[in-house]
Amino acid sequence: MCGIIGYVGDRKACEVIVRGLKRLEYRGYDSAGIVTGDNGRLYIKKGAGRVDELREKLGFLQMPGKIGIGHTRWATHGVPDDTNAHPHTDCTGRIALVHNGIIENFSSLREWLVERGHTFRSNTDTEVIAHLIEEELKSGGSFEEAMRRALLRLRGSFALGIIYAGEPDRLYFVRNESPLVLGIGRGENFAASDVPAFLEYTKRAVFLDDGEYAILTKDSWIVKNLYTGEVVEKEVQEIEWDLEMAEKSGYEHFTLKEIYEQPRAVRDAIHGNAEVVRKVAEEIAGYDRIFIVAMGTSYHAGLVAKYLFQRLTRRVPIVEEASEFRYEFGEILNERDLVLAITQSGETADTLAAMRLAKERGAKVLAIVNVVGSMATRVADLTLYTHAGPEIGVAATKTYTTQLTVLTMLAIELARILGTTDGEELRRLEENLKAVPELMEKVLGHDGALRELAEGLLGREDFFYIARGINVPTALEGALKLKEISYVHAEGLSAGELKHGPLALLENGVPVVAIAPGGRTFDKMVANIEEARARGAHVIGLGEEPELRDISDVFIEMPGMDELLTPIVYALPLQLLAYHLSVLRGNDPDRPRNLAKSVTVE
Ligand code: F6R
Repeated sequence: MCGIIGYVGDRKACEVIVRGLKRLEYRGYDSAGIVTGDNGRLYIKKGAGRVDELREKLGFLQMPGKIGIGHTRWATHGVPDDTNAHPHTDCTGRIALVHNGIIENFSSLREWLVERGHTFRSNTDTEVIAHLIEEELKSGGSFEEAMRRALLRLRGSFALGIIYAGEPDRLYFVRNESPLVLGIGRGENFAASDVPAFLEYTKRAVFLDDGEYAILTKDSWIVKNLYTGEVVEKEVQEIEWDLEMAEKSGYEHFTLKEIYEQPRAVRDAIHGNAEVVRKVAEEIAGYDRIFIVAMGTSYHAGLVAKYLFQRLTRRVPIVEEASEFRYEFGEILNERDLVLAITQSGETADTLAAMRLAKERGAKVLAIVNVVGSMATRVADLTLYTHAGPEIGVAATKTYTTQLTVLTMLAIELARILGTTDGEELRRLEENLKAVPELMEKVLGHDGALRELAEGLLGREDFFYIARGINVPTALEGALKLKEISYVHAEGLSAGELKHGPLALLENGVPVVAIAPGGRTFDKMVANIEEARARGAHVIGLGEEPELRDISDVFIEMPGMDELLTPIVYALPLQLLAYHLSVLRGNDPDRPRNLAKSVTVE
């Protein structure tokens, strides 16, 4: 996830762009850059760091021209440094562009372009687009046609801002699965990833849809279909948000916005790992023992992986909290072991210490990380990224479901290499994984019902979350979300454990959230729910079976899906329930008391 802002008009472009970039920093902040055009020449300044630092250091505000594009980066391919910062250019330096999204097939395109003599300067997926357009330009036709031909060869998600020195009065903006909106002014036009970037200049906006591109000049704007080149009629909308609301895209909190971003985030996680996960699986397939280390929500993702790996690869990883592992189990590691570390921030002290210990003992270390270039990626031998984009809310939401997505992809690839699961079944699971974002959209439709549910549960101080099998970690995660943002005591446990002790705590009206998709243990789950009901528990059932509806006080109907994918989708209603309870109790869900986003001390 990155931020894009483009401007053409009579103002000094760099000033408008720097102000816009500041407003987009919540979308990415590891590097930034600007290209402006003046008298048929392009001027570029870019570097690693935050917009304020770079404004002084690089002299952003000294750039000439009344047309230009800016970018604030959240790295997805290539560490955050000066060369990987956007804009990127072709070999001639006459095409410059910025990108938000992920190009799935960039490595094969890059190889193809290198064979044709193109020289690459960065490690990004973005740079291939500039060279691809340059290559297409050689075959003749207008810049617009060359651009279209090039873009049709890309797979993945992209929002692009493009400037070409040969057409110094215009900007191109393209959207496919990453947001872009035009700001329509008088004698000036804007384009951005999000409305706040231009809201101080105009409230008139045109939202681009997937597969559309826009051409902006000072006095005109036009939108066309990327596939056919035909003009698309678009409606100008009047924006009513104030600036603060706009930064959160109209959501009241970042946490809610990030919960809603999950369909997009999971799509990006799939695109971003499509090629690389196979290579990583090949490198780790030979290891017999797998240890998974992580903390908090990332640890819960590790627990889900235990079930995934067991079912698909017939290997049962040992999953440990990194803080325990490093003092206890790390001692038994050797060079034939694989340690898989899961960490959103890549900076968690205990997880880093466990990784370092693993390296000292000669084990291979694979990290699943959200923040590109973070310490974990430097310690690990291999890294897979979750591609969730920056998570501003302290509670992990989209980074959890993208961790699960990557772990599912890894388990599928490993199973394929090891031959432990039928190929047809793996293909089906892969296809079903691609459909998860749509299922998530459906589940987000329960938001209103979950808010009502939260209102009804407002006075309650103890919650229980129960599940079986692969959703036991979902129960733990649901309880953790509630504890951390609502400050309500909650316990997550396997339903089978209920009558071994916790049942003693159940009495009239105590909420029991039962995570009960259909599957191999559904009948057992029904029996456990009945036990809770018999003690007066208020049962909130999440599932798809009519039988569950009959035995629940409140039923949240979930779509049917492959059992192995349920942890990804079932996380959403639990996040929403915790969010609404937090807000109703007067808390700030974005900044829960006593907690920090990165826990860099032990
Ligand atoms: C909970 C949460 C924390 C983190 C934990 C590990 O919502 O965010 O429990 O999951 O602190 O952090 P990372 O994944 O950055 O290592």
